[in-house]
Amino acid sequence: MSAAALSAALQPHRYLWPRDDLAATGWKRTTGGMWQRRLPESDAAVAADSRWPALFPSPVCLVTAAHGAAMVLERVVGPSIVNRFPYVLALSFCVEPLSDRHYARRAFTTVLEAGGGAAVQLLPPGPALDRALAAIETTPERETSARLTRSGLATRRALTSAAPVFTDAYLVYEGRLVRPGRDFEGQPIYPQPWLDVGSHRVYFLEVTAIQLRRDIAEGRSQIRWRSLPAWSPAAVTRAAPRTKAAGPGAGYQKPYTPHYAFPSAGTIAFEADELADGMAVKRLPSEKADQVEVDNDRARWPCFFPSSVGMITTWAADGRPNLMPCGSTTVLSRQPLVIAPCVGYAAINERYAPRLTLELIRKNRAFGCGVPFIGERIVEAIKYAGNVSWQAAGDKVAQAGLVVARGGPAPVLTDLPVHFDCEVVDEVRLGTHVMFLGAVRRIRVRRDVSAANPLEWCPWADVRPVDG
Ligand SMILES: Cc1cc2nc3c(=O)[nH]c(=O)nc-3n(C[C@H](O)[C@H](O)[C@H](O)COP(=O)(O)O)c2cc1C
Repeated sequence: MSAAALSAALQPHRYLWPRDDLAATGWKRTTGGMWQRRLPESDAAVAADSRWPALFPSPVCLVTAAHGAAMVLERVVGPSIVNRFPYVLALSFCVEPLSDRHYARRAFTTVLEAGGGAAVQLLPPGPALDRALAAIETTPERETSARLTRSGLATRRALTSAAPVFTDAYLVYEGRLVRPGRDFEGQPIYPQPWLDVGSHRVYFLEVTAIQLRRDIAEGRSQIRWRSLPAWSPAAVTRAAPRTKAAGPGAGYQKPYTPHYAFPSAGTIAFEADELADGMAVKRLPSEKADQVEVDNDRARWPCFFPSSVGMITTWAADGRPNLMPCGSTTVLSRQPLVIAPCVGYAAINERYAPRLTLELIRKNRAFGCGVPFIGERIVEAIKYAGNVSWQAAGDKVAQAGLVVARGGPAPVLTDLPVHFDCEVVDEVRLGTHVMFLGAVRRIRVRRDVSAANPLEWCPWADVRPVDG
């Protein structure tokens, strides 16, 4: 599998990492020949350069909120669906001044907290998206409520809150700050709708409605999302010998391709309740009991939302490695750098069953997070390891055709370009998934990752007519 070139429309949003020589930016060579950096960094180091020290592939979205006359607009990196029932989207905002890049978003978060609702929006690449991004970039945070007007873009009111929605948005997730409740085991969840994690405040929004442009909902246009970075290893590692015929076997299979087209034959059909303003609209029931879909297929996400994959690794009690591909993995905080995988704990059906990884992370208080890329072996490994539990597979990592380096707090998958070692500082129950907060303690990068051979990532999806 090769990485098809990004469309011309997405080219301006292409992101390459690393840009600089790693040796010149504080990375050290290990005896094994990998690049390594220890975290946390000092506050002074972050103030001087607060870009993420290594790439974790994250989508980007636009978010609006309103309270009274104030209407605010922000750009958010790493929006993530973190829980299935209730259906919850997490958005993380910097609230501590770290640097010119990471400034506090208090004007925005004040309106979000007072208004209680937000509209998370995706615009296709092109002039409207450029104007919205330029308005955000050039308007200081204290004037956040001037951004919408400055963008010059038309908006309408969201259906379930007063948040403004761009006429140009092709996908809108409307949400409200989640209310306290109880999970399937009767345990309290969401005592408050946000969580302070290092330099950031993470908001949990319960999805109330999804708006999808009508031509996409009707299959005349498709969203195209490249969910993994493109990268070419210079040194090809040998595949691990497989002891048994690999293959997930019987049972429910979660399909996966990094070249995602929605809607298409392999995806769920968007089941709209109504049409409004050129959009097909699905409203989500507010009572958890009305939301739960036991059927494996109906329990799938009801619509596309951009995500990537974290390759979450752990050691089992007998010293063998485990791997859980995790789509709901996101970066929550910059200082310290915190990576959060959301791991299923509720027993609903085959799709949503408790993961062994949950127990292993709890026991080890640590996990690894590898960054996968577009390559046949890696995609096959995601499909395999994402459909088989360690209990059933035993040598799951070897079965997935991957090789592990030992010695660290979590297995390092040597096929992957970037690996984060994370120490668990907290866990949060969200209803069906547990969000682990993993403070990054060490980053390892393969030696064939360089400014001359970088990872290529694009945080936006494209929208194209089906015959186009
Ligand atoms: C692309 C992909 C993304 C996935 N994302 C998640 C996720 O976000 N959370 C989760 O709990 N399971 C996720 N899974 C399912 C787990 O990877 C799967 O249940 C795995 O077999 C668990 O392994 P374990 O029981 O050995 O821990 C995903 C699977 C695939 C293929």
